[in-house]
Amino acid sequence: MKALVLSGGAGTRLRPITHTSAKQLVPVANKPVLFYGLESIAAAGITEVGVIVGDTAAEIEEAVGDGSKFGLEITYIPQDRPLGLAHAVLIARDFLGDDDFVMYLGDNFIVGGISELVDEFRVNRPAAQILLTHVPDPRSFGVAELDSEGQVIGLEEKPESPKSDLALVGVYLFTSVIHEAVRAIEPSWRGELEITHAIQHLIDLHADVHSTVIKGYWKDTGNVVDMLEVNRTVLETIEHRVDGEVDERSELVGRVVVEEGARVTGSRVVGPVIIGAGTVVSDSYVGPFTSVSENCRIQDSELEFSIVLRDSSIQGVGRIESSLIGRHVEVTPTVGMPTVHRLVLGDHSKVQIHS
Ligand code: TTP
Repeated sequence: MKALVLSGGAGTRLRPITHTSAKQLVPVANKPVLFYGLESIAAAGITEVGVIVGDTAAEIEEAVGDGSKFGLEITYIPQDRPLGLAHAVLIARDFLGDDDFVMYLGDNFIVGGISELVDEFRVNRPAAQILLTHVPDPRSFGVAELDSEGQVIGLEEKPESPKSDLALVGVYLFTSVIHEAVRAIEPSWRGELEITHAIQHLIDLHADVHSTVIKGYWKDTGNVVDMLEVNRTVLETIEHRVDGEVDERSELVGRVVVEEGARVTGSRVVGPVIIGAGTVVSDSYVGPFTSVSENCRIQDSELEFSIVLRDSSIQGVGRIESSLIGRHVEVTPTVGMPTVHRLVLGDHSKVQIHS
């Protein structure tokens, strides 16, 4: 069995972060979201992995390498444009051969891994096995309709009137019959070859399409709100560890990770929080569910429920909450001009200012 991991895409919902970097590499508790997926694949006993890459290929390849650090053998498969999940299967034909495979969306996060699912699939080998989860508002997902026996009878992509509250999770298991299906379908109105259409094609041919409603937690980290939520969930599981320096004027409450080379001075940190290597937190408050990556500077500020990427600095700006801050960002006060905001923002930035 092989794996196909999708790490291309446009990432429009995570702009401006995705103007300069891959969304699959945004860290969750200071580890790229993609790495959690690769670890689950390795844990399921799969070693041959094809990784679909787009515009951010160089960055993904630099981060993942040949896969040996995960115990995987990685083959990179370039996709010229993000033409859809089924298009990714189409261009991976040579790599996949006639093997069964698991397709894993590189920005998806599943607690509990995929080992059980892969084992079950290996035994039953249906044409396709999809994973489903109950969601409060299914309209922004692929949605499955099941019959009274739980058999999948229809799939719809982002329906206006969903037939159930069961959304497709970003992990799919296929036998090689999917290759005929991805060749048979036409692009959708949004110009993409949809994997839901390919699976619907299998259903129409009365192929065996199994579904499993997952018990564990799943999130697509494609937007900021979900990214912060996944970060919160992972931070819930960290163990307290201080490898850096914390001075006597500082107080750490609850589970806080201070990585080697990080310094906390004159500050209060209420966990769960992770402070990355080389980061300095001084005269500040860092509150629950915050991940600060490497080589940042948090000074005279308050920060809570946020992710700060590496090499950024936040100085003297009061309280920041529910924020995703990119790399090499500087947030500073406007000295001498108390009521103005001075902004240099990249395209598609989003700023909420208390006025
Ligand atoms: P999506 O999040 O559905 O698509 P996207 O990355 O284009 O994002 P947005 O909707 O914000 O513009 O993609 C799911 C995953 O699959 C993600 O990791 C990107 C990847 N992907 C590809 O590798 N190739 C593709 O053609 C598409 C559509 C997605």
